[in-house]
Amino acid sequence: MFSEEKLNKVKEIIARYPAGKQKSALIPVLHLAQEEFGGWLSAETMDYVASLLQIKPIEVYEVATFYSMFNLKPVGKYVFEVCQTGPCMLRGSDNIIDYIKKKLDIGVGETTKDGLFTLKTVECLGACGYAPMMQLGKHFREHLTPEKVDAIIEECRVKAN
Ligand code: FES
Repeated sequence: MFSEEKLNKVKEIIARYPAGKQKSALIPVLHLAQEEFGGWLSAETMDYVASLLQIKPIEVYEVATFYSMFNLKPVGKYVFEVCQTGPCMLRGSDNIIDYIKKKLDIGVGETTKDGLFTLKTVECLGACGYAPMMQLGKHFREHLTPEKVDAIIEECRVKAN
């Protein structure tokens, strides 16, 4: 369940849309739920969001399973969302993905044993001019090289301590 404060936020989001169109609030409310409930959306969380918006659970599942920004299983503290679409691929995203896999000893969709890092591959994030790139939290990390990946991992480890 959301806290009182978050419930007020949900009400505020719903109020942005015309009466009866509360389904339009689904994506921002899912973001809020993901943030609030450990970085991922369980079936229980999605059902809860459905009840808040008075829509069917399937309507929530359809959206949550479509967008890569929603995690449907637990993830690490830092999620590397590496773009693998054409322009990034042409600029070496495959090598970056392989490098991260080896460096962290995980596959795509997996989380390191210490719970710090998750690797995901995603489709174009609209930053093709900065390829290869990834999203980390709310920020883009661009023109990735193995050296930059090393520095990002180190930066995350320092922040986590
Ligand atoms: S192809 Fe990677 S950001 Fe567009």
